[in-house]
Amino acid sequence: MTHADSDRVIFARNPLDMIAHAHAVQVQMCDAMERIADGLPDDIDRRLCAQVAACLQFDLPLHHYDEESSLFPLLKMRALPDDGLEGILDRLASEHSSDTDFASEIAESLEVLGQGKKSPNPDMLGYMLRGFFERYRRHVQWENALVMPLARIRLTAEDLDALAASMESNRRQAG
Ligand SMILES: [Fe+2]
Ligand SMILES: [Fe+2]
Repeated sequence: MTHADSDRVIFARNPLDMIAHAHAVQVQMCDAMERIADGLPDDIDRRLCAQVAACLQFDLPLHHYDEESSLFPLLKMRALPDDGLEGILDRLASEHSSDTDFASEIAESLEVLGQGKKSPNPDMLGYMLRGFFERYRRHVQWENALVMPLARIRLTAEDLDALAASMESNRRQAG
């Protein structure tokens, strides 16, 4: 199999299914963050902390970039005025930038726990974790309830190709 073939295999699926899968993983990540917060300060699953840290640091910014660079602009172009999406997409995009910053701050603290060290301020970390997962669960719910169903209706086959190509190029740059 050539390099080009293997790239194509990654995106053989509908890119919207890949985004939906990312959302499902994010819901699991939020549940894991709740378990970590509940276990503080002493009942810590180090491996889970390291996994969540990696997800917050690498997967989340890439997903936000997929949405902002491609999914949202395509959907803005195709949405009908009655869809009422314009304000919602802008709000979701503005949440991305604060969530990405907050996620990287939390990831640093979780990496410390992942290395088997104690949190210097478990109360603050618990507060940050809860603030993040409560807010992020709502973000994913909005996207799953409003954005994804409309994307499946409105985006054309060419749009889906463009989305897949953009996601592929985002991963090449990140890798
Ligand atoms: Fe988003
Ligand atoms: Fe999303």
